[in-house]
Amino acid sequence: MDRVIIFDTTLRDGEQAAGAALSVQDKLDIARQLEKLGIDVIEAGFPISSPGDFEAVQLIAREIKKSSVCALSHANAEAIDRAWEAVRKAKKPRIHIFLSASDIHLLYQLKKTREEILEISLEMVARAKKYTDDVEFSPMDASRTEPAYIYRIAEAVIKAGATTLNIPDTVGYATPQEYGDLIEGIFKNVPNIGKAVVSVHCHNDLGLAVANSLEAIQRGARQVECTVNGIGERAGNAAMEEIVMALKTRSDFYHLTTNIDTTQIYKTSRLVSELTGFAVQPNKAIIGANAFRHESGIHQDGVIKKAITYEIMDPKSVGIPSSSLVLGKLSGRHAFKERLAELGYIMDEDSLKHAFQAFKELADKKREVTDRDIESLIAEELRTVTEVYHLDHVEVSCGNHNIPTATVRLIGPDGQAVADAALGTGPVDAVYEAINRIVKVPNKLTEFTVKSVTEGIDAIGEVLIRIESNGVSYSGRGADTDIIVASAKAYMNALNRLLAVKKVRK
Ligand code: KIV
Ligand code: ZN
Repeated sequence: MDRVIIFDTTLRDGEQAAGAALSVQDKLDIARQLEKLGIDVIEAGFPISSPGDFEAVQLIAREIKKSSVCALSHANAEAIDRAWEAVRKAKKPRIHIFLSASDIHLLYQLKKTREEILEISLEMVARAKKYTDDVEFSPMDASRTEPAYIYRIAEAVIKAGATTLNIPDTVGYATPQEYGDLIEGIFKNVPNIGKAVVSVHCHNDLGLAVANSLEAIQRGARQVECTVNGIGERAGNAAMEEIVMALKTRSDFYHLTTNIDTTQIYKTSRLVSELTGFAVQPNKAIIGANAFRHESGIHQDGVIKKAITYEIMDPKSVGIPSSSLVLGKLSGRHAFKERLAELGYIMDEDSLKHAFQAFKELADKKREVTDRDIESLIAEELRTVTEVYHLDHVEVSCGNHNIPTATVRLIGPDGQAVADAALGTGPVDAVYEAINRIVKVPNKLTEFTVKSVTEGIDAIGEVLIRIESNGVSYSGRGADTDIIVASAKAYMNALNRLLAVKKVRK
């Protein structure tokens, strides 16, 4: 097989990242984008872990048609039944069972023998197999397990019906050579290995997740488990975009393909960053803000003469919008709509009307409107959080001899405008205090980042924040040429998410 199956676990292992909290609607939005990206298998969640996870997996299973939808399960009957209940309506359902295999886990955590683990694994694979043909099994902490025992488990679970055998480097401990040897050993020592796809699942504790995954692929693995932007438990999982682009850019070396439409990578990365509230570091490979920026004069000179001198990938191939002028103040609605379609956005008339209005306002403030600006503006329009409160007006007074003061006006759930004012330690604090006086939901601001979408003094500022209420965190995003307005929008976005969740829980 010369194609690598891309198994995305952003919605399961990715969401296990400390501080990530996605609503059911966020998860559905991400799943839809993953399907557009061409992901083969979407691990949508861990149904037994919470009612919210169950609901999200069930919803995704009903909606997604092209990708397989996978539910994670402990190796026990109740968890498997719950996983099946959540994915059974999927066009292509998969159950993924995991059970620890290393002596460290068996001795200190499970207090079970190897024989007991083997028996439970077989029994549970057989149980899942009664529900669906597509069953995956993971001997957890495989990279710290004696290889001979992994071979025994592998042979047994494949015999019981597992069609994918996943080999997790659960704690990100393996080196590429060791991990590759383990995968090669499986092909050499498991007689029925031809009946299953060998999968890899690498964590990034030593920064080796992508290197380990690629080495495993070299040694015969044909499914790779990864997450968008590499988010996940602790230091995260192998980054989907890095693996896919390594396989594509170095196809001369790997001679392998994937089903991924790489032009959707940037949009997917932005969506995941926005909804999880995790900003992407500027030097992040493939999708970081500096990934295609050339600073040195020699490099710039080379790229102007011929891009290939210093660029190994075309930024367009990962869907990075160009930062050169595309539209201006005089551009009409038709040109705007066409540009949106070229960027892959199809909007209904109502959203288009709002977006065009926002574009006109931006074009009035900014000399040049680029694809990056449009992309940031559209992210605002496509946000699916239903607003309970809408930011109608914000005004601040500040300076080195002024006490920062803010006045805000919000439109409430009853359609009435409510205004209030507050002082703060700075302009953003004053705005947040004024909003708090109206919305009255106790919360704590735990993260605040601001960055510019493009270069220049008139650039759009993008604010990503995270607030915490009752131990749950909510992210918010806002964009505007005025960073105080962007900050107010981000706060309203996070508050509206919080209020939407409260409404559902009532
Ligand atoms: O890292 C791990 O071992 C896992 C398993 C559930 C596959 O995430
Ligand atoms: Zn994992």
